[in-house]
Amino acid sequence: MTLTPQWLDELRARTSLSTLIGKTVKVQKAGREYKACCPFHNEKTPSFTINDEKGFYHCFGCGAHGDAIRWMTDQRGLPFMEAVKELAATACMEVPAADPRAAKRAEQAKGLHDAMGAAQGFFEEQLAGIDGGDARAYLAKRGISDATRRTFGFGYSPDSRGKLKGALKEFGEPMLVEAGLLIAPDGERDTYDRFRGRLMLPIRDIRGRVIAFGGRIIGQGEPKYLNSPDTPLFDKGRTLYNIDRASPASRQSGRVIVVEGYMDVIALAQAGFGDAVAPLGTALTEHQIERLWKMVEVPILCFDGDAAGQKAAIRAATRALPLLRPGHSLAFATLPAGQDPDDLLRAEGPRAMDAVLAGAQPLVDRLWEHEQKVGPLDTPEQKAALKQRLAAHSDSIQHPDVRALYAQTFRERYDALFFARPDRFGGGQRAPRGSGGGDSRAGWQRDKKGNWKPPVPPAGNEAREIGANGMEHRLLRAILASLLRDPKQIILHRETLSGLRIGDPALAQLLDAMIAASFRKETVETQALLTILGQGDLYNMAKGMLRADTFTFTPHRMTTDPSRVQRDLDEAIRVMAQGPELETALAEATRRFESDFSEENFAEQQRIRALKADHDSRLAELAQSEDIV
Ligand code: UTP
Ligand code: MN
Repeated sequence: MTLTPQWLDELRARTSLSTLIGKTVKVQKAGREYKACCPFHNEKTPSFTINDEKGFYHCFGCGAHGDAIRWMTDQRGLPFMEAVKELAATACMEVPAADPRAAKRAEQAKGLHDAMGAAQGFFEEQLAGIDGGDARAYLAKRGISDATRRTFGFGYSPDSRGKLKGALKEFGEPMLVEAGLLIAPDGERDTYDRFRGRLMLPIRDIRGRVIAFGGRIIGQGEPKYLNSPDTPLFDKGRTLYNIDRASPASRQSGRVIVVEGYMDVIALAQAGFGDAVAPLGTALTEHQIERLWKMVEVPILCFDGDAAGQKAAIRAATRALPLLRPGHSLAFATLPAGQDPDDLLRAEGPRAMDAVLAGAQPLVDRLWEHEQKVGPLDTPEQKAALKQRLAAHSDSIQHPDVRALYAQTFRERYDALFFARPDRFGGGQRAPRGSGGGDSRAGWQRDKKGNWKPPVPPAGNEAREIGANGMEHRLLRAILASLLRDPKQIILHRETLSGLRIGDPALAQLLDAMIAASFRKETVETQALLTILGQGDLYNMAKGMLRADTFTFTPHRMTTDPSRVQRDLDEAIRVMAQGPELETALAEATRRFESDFSEENFAEQQRIRALKADHDSRLAELAQSEDIV
């Protein structure tokens, strides 16, 4: 296909840019131009101008600039040729076809599109008619509003083998078979309607044309969804449900959410999340990942927190690795176990969904966490196997820089997990309480009261101690209580925990004793841990913290979602460790700024100040999150 510059100029000239843009955003006349609030960035006062004469739009706020074709590719997300075709259709221009075969294919595709469009009309009519009563009741039961029903084009296929065939007979059976609307059991004969007695969901391409259908059974039954077969219009592995609406929405929000099911996309849209898509009942393909990357750099994949969902998450992560390139990745949000987004929205509303999305993990973290939790990491062989699995992941990345950085990140975390602070815990045993040894062992010191204190970190980067009261103290108690309830968490977080400097001497002593005990095999059980703590003050304190009403990050109600609790605990420990570090960094940056009033020093100090402010508010949230745990 050859598009001459003259032909493209003609196309631009015949297109009214303000009318085209006016389909998506509200435009106002302003002199010879038009104005609008820019659809490429968020703004309240219009700085986006459209000049019909010149055929250009321009935003003075964000610099977005282009012609009609550019609008279709950048705002609507269409590939170039699709953009041209759609504009040509509106302008009543024929797109020149290069060779007769392409022309024939285009002709045939047009027929199929028309047939699909007619089927969509038929299904919608049926839903509105007498046969559609059950389907309408089902939609109402699921809380689908009339507006959502229209937006997503819900329909109904009557429970009959020939109603669609009859209604669309002008297209001829061969074409309806090719469109996947009729089934031809033996060749061309005895064809009958594929979709019978189902709630129909049209699947649209990026231009909004119906290319396939998903048909849901009304109520219970198998199969739950019946989908169109692959046709010349529909390639399941290259299609994302709702791409036509999510693509422009994602340009506004800068986000794309990927969920599993049709109904999740629809429930999300109804709750105000217009930027969601779904693959069609299969794992994401490479093609779909590339398609998502055209919308945003880091799409958020939502998975069920249950075992199957998490397996699917790791499968998606593994599949994306070879494709990673600078800037482009995936993020992983975990839903409460056993709930899809539709269920979650129904049970807890949009804020719960916001929280799930806010907790999305970067790909690198998701893999690291997964591999660490695959099995025990007690023996050298198990540790070496972890290293091997991590290396296999980073090796599968094709882009050299991304590969090297993954390898480095994994190596650093691995080393931190097993090799840090060898002087402190290297022996697997240490000499605290009542061992009667000398006054210094492996850097541990007795304080004035005779308690063992861990070695002080080298001077210079000395961090302050964690507060003995206030929010920090409250959060620390919750962390310790959680570790007592689930002692294997001590092993998972040992390195970070060992680095904490705790102001409250009793809690400091308890944590040290717990860390020391965690090197013993039997301490994965609370009872065993208590036994090791002995019968003195530590034991009593631990017992007190194990009372049922203590605030902890452990599932203590049937309804609590374990993966969310795990994330909260992980985060609480991380935040706990960061506070003093950030303060040290801030003090250091402030000192530098005060000794040299340069712009960079000021910017750096402000940056750390902002980080610290974020940290403080997150800490407060976690410390008060009792009601959600
Ligand atoms: P789910 O079983 O999670 O369906 O399948 P759902 O979206 O939650 O549906 P509701 O809420 O019960 O109505 C997820 C997706 O897998 C595909 C569909 O694309 C579905 O949206 N699927 C599922 C099929 O293609 N066929 C099936 O029989 C089941
Ligand atoms: Mn569902």
